[in-house]
Amino acid sequence: MDKLMIRGGRPLRGTVSISGAKNSAVALLPAAILAESEVVLDNLPHLSDVAVYADLLEQLGAGISWNGETMRIDSSSLNSIPMPNGKVKLLRASYYLMGALLGRFGEATIGLPGGCNFEPRPIDQHIKGFEALGAQVSNDQGSIRIVAKELRGAKIYLDVSSVGATINIMLAASRAKGLTTIENAAKEPEIIDVATLLNAMGAKIKGAGTETIRIEGVDGLHGCRHSIIPDRIQAGTYMIAAAATRGDVLIDGVIPKHMEAITAKLLELGVHVEEMDEAIRIVGAPRYEAVDVKALVYPGFATDLQSPMTSLLTQASGVSILTDYVYSNRFKHVPELVRMGANIRVEGRSAIIEGNQLNSAKVKAADLRAGAALVVAALTVADGITEITGVDYIDRGYDNLVEKLRALGADVWREKD
Ligand code: EPU
Repeated sequence: MDKLMIRGGRPLRGTVSISGAKNSAVALLPAAILAESEVVLDNLPHLSDVAVYADLLEQLGAGISWNGETMRIDSSSLNSIPMPNGKVKLLRASYYLMGALLGRFGEATIGLPGGCNFEPRPIDQHIKGFEALGAQVSNDQGSIRIVAKELRGAKIYLDVSSVGATINIMLAASRAKGLTTIENAAKEPEIIDVATLLNAMGAKIKGAGTETIRIEGVDGLHGCRHSIIPDRIQAGTYMIAAAATRGDVLIDGVIPKHMEAITAKLLELGVHVEEMDEAIRIVGAPRYEAVDVKALVYPGFATDLQSPMTSLLTQASGVSILTDYVYSNRFKHVPELVRMGANIRVEGRSAIIEGNQLNSAKVKAADLRAGAALVVAALTVADGITEITGVDYIDRGYDNLVEKLRALGADVWREKD
């Protein structure tokens, strides 16, 4: 297992190109198996989660060829085999195989998902959706078995506006008989990306990106070509790292509209932010003033950016309060930041951060975004070398992290742990 070594204190400078969105990719790959002919996905990020997903599709009988940022998925001879264990346990988004296989074959058996378990992450809304579509769902020794003689359109109200449940229901409902309406649907850009792919495959989905999505089921879906949207969380992380190191970085290949919440917060903090058509320039300032942050569903401030944002707030003067309204206890980065000298305490679903200079330490990434927080923190520390273990978590969401940071002037490398 590798560890990440960072000698910080250097302002990041230059241009970083943002890859395709991880959280789109892990939904588009299973969506592709609803097509009975080849789907080509472009702008695919080189991430461990994507590689695991490709393996899962191969196990189901899909033909996969991955060349650079393009993957071809041929699902013409796919089977719905039970997948109780193995690689499904490695990532959370394996739950999308439930909706995709249900839509394609009327049945699926999938082990309960793994992934970043920073807190219990229920899937009751996914199950409620499948049941509303006419499926029978049972829990068989840690696997979810879903069977439907016929999927019928239904009106489904989500108790929480869940990204995963919204996408899973869209996948299954695309092949149901009649109209499905999802109320209180999640509005994240990744949902629009999945609907765009499904529509290009012949589905009839309207309203993705709003709280009401209508899906008119169709008899079959076909292949197409689709380019994945940029990763707004990766982009936001580099924006935060640029600000934290008082650097000057052009974040290239982004959709600035997706970045509005983080852009607004950085401006409030005192960072200079310049929006262009497909890029954002971040210029750090010598002094930042504390701000409060509330992580919410989109278009609010992304929960996935609250951990790296915690590290940036350690660099602001005064006391900042960061509250996560999506997850009640996503603070595994906090004890590690405290080891680096941060002055942070967690109260309920809030982190209270008093700005001060951090120091180097040996720390451990306990999940993907907690890892991103440690990287941002380490980049601010001029004295000594920060060692970050748990790098396999970070590799799930940040492709070529070392190369990208080095190109921006950071002193960072990997070593065997
Ligand atoms: N929830 C339920 N029941 C459900 C589903 C969700 O109570 O059936 C709750 C969750 O516990 C949470 C809230 O609803 O409090 C939102 O969860 P959501 O379902 O939206 O999350 P998810 O789909 O499992 C995706 C991303 C996460 C990101 C969240 C929130 C993927 C693969 N994962 O998860 O990304 O934090 O949406 O935006 O798309 C990450 O990239 O590091 C990551 C964890």
